[in-house]
Amino acid sequence: MTTYRDAIALDIPVFVSLDKQLFPYSPWSAAQYKEEFAEMPRTRHFVVALDEAQSIIGYAGILVPAAQVEADILTVGVLEAHRGKGIARHLMALITDFAVDRQATAMMLEVKSDNVEAIGLYESLGYSKISIRNNYFGSGLDALIMRKELP
Ligand SMILES: CC(C)(COP(=O)(O)OP(=O)(O)OC[C@H]1O[C@@H](n2cnc3c(N)ncnc32)[C@H](O)[C@@H]1OP(=O)(O)O)[C@@H](O)C(=O)NCCC(=O)NCCS
Repeated sequence: MTTYRDAIALDIPVFVSLDKQLFPYSPWSAAQYKEEFAEMPRTRHFVVALDEAQSIIGYAGILVPAAQVEADILTVGVLEAHRGKGIARHLMALITDFAVDRQATAMMLEVKSDNVEAIGLYESLGYSKISIRNNYFGSGLDALIMRKELP
């Protein structure tokens, strides 16, 4: 059974290692994660999904800079062997709850424009494509900007 909990600083090495597998075009360093985690729980929220052995199999993070502004999804990833079981959908619900709790007005994200799985995930959750940012992830790697209003 998959369980979920808030991320802690001890998880940072796992985040760094999973980023290399899931986001080889834009992995974060341990130093970057340290900076982000230092802002928890004030403006950042990171959550993890665990398998029966308590190993991290998925994670997500969000930035809510202040009340009444847009929240920015920082990351969402699930290990390949565990995909298609609703884990990303659940992680998205957890970070969305944080954004609603912090009175964010909308959810925003950048996704690589050829990432059909992630775009499918976001569209299934009601996100709309609002623009393209050329070369966002590096030369020739465009980002699609997607957004969902919050109630
Ligand atoms: C995108 C990703 C997080 C989805 O994780 P997942 O746990 O498999 O997703 P879920 O099982 O929760 O799927 C939820 C919905 O997303 C959509 N989706 C998931 N996989 C999809 C695929 N291969 N093609 C199209 N839509 C897909 C579906 O609408 C799905 O709902 P359904 O199962 O009821 O049809 C995963 O593929 C991943 O980690 N990819 C690599 C990292 C990445 O690109 N992250 C996003 C960065 S912006």
